[in-house]
Amino acid sequence: MADYLLEMRSVTAGYAKDIDVLKDVSLHVKKGEISGLIGLNGAGKSTLIKSICGFLSPKTGEIYFDGHPLNAVLPHKLIDLGICCIPQESSLFPMLTVKENLLLPVQSRRHLFANSWQSRYEEVLELFPALKDKLGQSAGELSGGQQKQLEFAKAWMLQPKLCLIDEPSIGLSPKVAEEIFQWLSRFTEQGMGILLIDHNVRRVVKMSQTIFVLSLGSIAASGDQAMFTGDLHTQVKEWLGLNY
Ligand SMILES: Nc1ncnc2c1ncn2[C@@H]1O[C@H](COP(=O)(O)OP(=O)(O)OP(=O)(O)O)[C@@H](O)[C@H]1O
Ligand SMILES: [Mg+2]
Repeated sequence: MADYLLEMRSVTAGYAKDIDVLKDVSLHVKKGEISGLIGLNGAGKSTLIKSICGFLSPKTGEIYFDGHPLNAVLPHKLIDLGICCIPQESSLFPMLTVKENLLLPVQSRRHLFANSWQSRYEEVLELFPALKDKLGQSAGELSGGQQKQLEFAKAWMLQPKLCLIDEPSIGLSPKVAEEIFQWLSRFTEQGMGILLIDHNVRRVVKMSQTIFVLSLGSIAASGDQAMFTGDLHTQVKEWLGLNY
């Protein structure tokens, strides 16, 4: 357990008392590595993220972050611990400007970031030049690709230890999606651990050191990258229960 940044142990969770969406799920993320989570629509991938973030309490099982139990941590405390979530839906404040969206999380946590946020803000504007010209614009007015850039820029500002990223490339052009996947590499170079969910299975496999397949709420298969390369299609179809 010691080298796991995030560890889920036999987690069962669901929205209704008598229906389990996640069934006995165990997975992990290591520091500086990407763990990829793949599965069909409705398999429970976003539910798994919600259970880590405290929006949905596990019915049974444990979640550990950096060796400490995470089960009782409230969602708004995650950033303080070093966990950042880029959800499938937007986490931006659409009426606030790009600049306000970038600065709000750090300015409301001055005890954590002291003066370091200023240099990081400058760095973010260099890294995400498309945002530089739009600092005074409302986040809600940005294109889908620009909003996703803002989500990543916000995460970069916070320099978390762990980033949970749900479907970052959905609805984006191949070019913008490619840029996003390059940022993920930059994140891990800094030592961050990432839990990555994306419908682009080949890309997830290419980027991840460890891959987990979620099927109807259970982990149907898991392994390192080498296990998932080769005849990916046949393997993934089999794991996902698509035997044709
Ligand atoms: N707020 C909710 N209340 C009740 N059931 C929900 C809720 N959110 C999701 N579910 C159900 O939980 C199951 C898993 O949904 P989830 O969104 O986790 O799947 P997913 O793997 O992320 O799918 P997708 O690939 O489409 O994003 C589905 O059957 C879904 O209908
Ligand atoms: Mg989802």
